[in-house]
Amino acid sequence: MENIDLKKLPRHIAIIMDGNGRWAKEHFLGRILGHRKGAEAVRVTVRTCREIGIEYLTLYAFSVENWLRPVEEVEGLMKLLGEFLQAELQEMLDNDIRLTTIGDIETLREPLKKLLRKTMEATAHNKGMVLNLALSYGGRDEIIGAVKKILKDSATGKVTSSQMTKELFSSYLQTSHTPDPDLLIRTSGEYRLSNFLLWQAAYTEFYFTDVLWPDFGRKDLFEAITAYQARERRFGLTSEQLRNG
Ligand code: IPE
Ligand code: IPE
Ligand code: MG
Repeated sequence: MENIDLKKLPRHIAIIMDGNGRWAKEHFLGRILGHRKGAEAVRVTVRTCREIGIEYLTLYAFSVENWLRPVEEVEGLMKLLGEFLQAELQEMLDNDIRLTTIGDIETLREPLKKLLRKTMEATAHNKGMVLNLALSYGGRDEIIGAVKKILKDSATGKVTSSQMTKELFSSYLQTSHTPDPDLLIRTSGEYRLSNFLLWQAAYTEFYFTDVLWPDFGRKDLFEAITAYQARERRFGLTSEQLRNG
């Protein structure tokens, strides 16, 4: 924490929490236990982000592709998610954290959907930090969903092609309540987006680490933020332009 500049924090951090399965394997445990340990790392990360003043934290918890994993694993993940929501509600209320989701929530099962709705309602007015969970999320599906809504609005004359801008398009995405991520972290030594925030990551700074998600702690988060703070975000301009502008 000593190394990070609290005045130059990323407003929005997004994390691809990867490596639970490999962590489990390394410890001769079943994959579900890897996910369970991963949920601990989620707790630490949420707490730390809130503590230092991150405004938005988006966590990739379950991709639309993850439905194709073995049934026991999907079941296990859904159960863990329910447990997480139940266990964290009080903490979210105490720490002024608002829970939101992106992804196709409708595909989740009823008890879980209900729990999500309840948690979102209970935290809806919190202002300290937005904790945005990507559940059954796919970036391409999200973009197609936006296009479908736009086509509908176009048919009723609510939007015309000449009005369409990047900002208006963004407002049709499920992330309309968040700014684009400033920093995207992926753990476990994989270097890909895996269908996460495809549109939103256009100018995001990427940080990759070999640390497996269950081992990702405060120190690792601070390292990622320190690396982010050493970057120059040029947005297509030259260094000179940025320094003089
Ligand atoms: C990330 O860990 C959690 C989810 C995708 C839900 P993995 O389960 O992908 O872990 P690895 O990649 O198999 O190690
Ligand atoms: C991405 O991890 C999804 C989540 C972290 C929830 P995966 O482990 O599913 O990604 P791939 O399959 O390695 O690309
Ligand atoms: Mg993985």
